[in-house]
Amino acid sequence: MRMIFIGPPGAGKGTQAARLVERYAIPHISTGDMFRAAVKAGTPMGKAAAECMNKGELVGDDIVIGMVRERIAQDDAKDGFLLDGFPRTVPQAEALKSALVTDGLSLDAVLLLEVPDQLIVDRITGRRSDPETGAIYHLTFSPPPAEVADRLVHRKDDTEEACRSRLDAYHSQTAPLVPFYEAEGLLKRVDGVGKPDDVTGRIVTVLG
Ligand code: AP5
Repeated sequence: MRMIFIGPPGAGKGTQAARLVERYAIPHISTGDMFRAAVKAGTPMGKAAAECMNKGELVGDDIVIGMVRERIAQDDAKDGFLLDGFPRTVPQAEALKSALVTDGLSLDAVLLLEVPDQLIVDRITGRRSDPETGAIYHLTFSPPPAEVADRLVHRKDDTEEACRSRLDAYHSQTAPLVPFYEAEGLLKRVDGVGKPDDVTGRIVTVLG
């Protein structure tokens, strides 16, 4: 199964991806996580990406496309993957399509997780992540257990200001992927509002 998750920042892509990759036994490939790892490691790519990420802007297509092409060519992604956060622009979607076509492959589904903008800021500013396990929590909606509370991190781009820039980038640069994948007959819309378990149920239903 080759799937893509698109949706605004904080829509719950990472939360749902963690559940889906277990169910479908495919790797979770998150470009946001890859960039955060590069920033932490202080690589030249990480340094270039950090500046864009902290402002809530997209990293350049040339950087991200090369990174994803290398990642999906790895052994664990040969039989499928769940891409989370990529593509985010039409040129990225075209590059992915041509990389897959070259290998005689194609996508099975593009999941669009829909959450209204007015719910996004609360989700983003209350998010906390566990650097040891990768688990995602929310101070109100999905509170962390007390024993991990001290080690949780608040992402640098999870401020209200950066969140608004990320929403602007989503609407201007990523939303055009909706008609792009609709035209390809791949788009599956999922209502991302409600309990995470209910959202997972809706995704499993649309995937059949
Ligand atoms: P990235 O890490 O991909 O961020 P994003 O798309 O903005 O998505 P998020 O990780 O913020 O949210 P999510 O949808 O995964 O939500 P989550 O499950 O955590 O990208 C970060 C940056 O990297 C970009 O801004 C850009 O600079 C760069 N980048 C990455 N990919 C790129 C690309 N392809 N091209 C260019 N640049 C790129 O949930 C959010 C919160 O809500 C959590 O606290 C969670 O507990 C809570 N929550 C989840 N589900 C529910 C629910 N159903 N009800 C209530 N709360 C919920």
